[in-house]
Amino acid sequence: MGLLDGKVAIVTGAGGGLGRAHSLLLASEGASILVNDLGGDRSGSGNGTSMADEVVDSIKAAGGEAVACYDSVSSVEGGRKIAQAALDAFDRVDILINNAGILRDKSFSNMEEDLWDSVLSVHLKGTYCVTRPVFQYMKGAGHGGVIVNTSSTSGLIGNFGQTNYGAAKAGIAGFTRCLAIEGKKYNIRVWGLAPVAVTRMTEDLAGMDSDGAKARMDPSFVSPAVLYMVSDLSKDRTGQFLFAGGGRVAELKMIMADGIRSEDPAKITAQEIARGEDVVFCDQAGASALG
Ligand code: NAI
Repeated sequence: MGLLDGKVAIVTGAGGGLGRAHSLLLASEGASILVNDLGGDRSGSGNGTSMADEVVDSIKAAGGEAVACYDSVSSVEGGRKIAQAALDAFDRVDILINNAGILRDKSFSNMEEDLWDSVLSVHLKGTYCVTRPVFQYMKGAGHGGVIVNTSSTSGLIGNFGQTNYGAAKAGIAGFTRCLAIEGKKYNIRVWGLAPVAVTRMTEDLAGMDSDGAKARMDPSFVSPAVLYMVSDLSKDRTGQFLFAGGGRVAELKMIMADGIRSEDPAKITAQEIARGEDVVFCDQAGASALG
């Protein structure tokens, strides 16, 4: 018996890298998979069917069920078609993994509008475009579901040359926390994932280009965290973020320090804040978890 017998999962950007690994693992646990991929290059240029088709073939060769869909996540129409393709093929949707992504890194001085818009469009708008029809379907069907949104340490912590990508990934984090609150009423759980893996997106980044890094940071080492999130193993957990990959899985969360407080808000002056730095800042004693 698989952990996901009878379930249907949509995985976006599933033609390679992490999405491919998630699809193969979820299928091996009994889920039928809608394999979505636009089939372009790392920067989002071009399109094609072969990437998604290869993953469908691999799932079928291993005895699983899958169909391909080549629409882009970054339009409302594309999102609707992706959700509908899963319903047409399998009659239901239980799981959505928002994973599609592109990279267009530049230092901020060189961050032209097209680099900004294209990255925000695929990651942040794409997450909205696919999630909305799926959420509406899950709400209407009444059987609940699980949505995993792919964020990144670049958005949650920061990284050089990725103001566009980091803004999109932090936006996805805010989206995740808000939707998790809305989803509770309908038994729809919403998770955030901050993966690390050597894929075509990261293979030329510093520290990722050695054979040792490739062996340790295979995308397949991230997918068990996704399986945990979307299966009953994670019970009723929602609204949380897991860092996963390279031999580590750990919750990532926003924290708020105890801070200085006063019954009279007018008494908190700039000088008072400077005097209270030991409790105002989280890197000193007294940090507590937010939410
Ligand atoms: P990847 O480049 O192998 O996979 C991304 C996939 O998304 C590609 O197959 C691409 O064709 C597809 N895609 C791009 N635009 C699309 C669109 N508009 N519609 C549908 N599909 C589209 O890269 P990787 O590393 O597997 O990335 C997967 C996700 O994980 C991305 O969201 C990425 O930002 C995120 N991520 C990856 C990290 C890593 O260390 N590899 C670190 C943090 C986040």
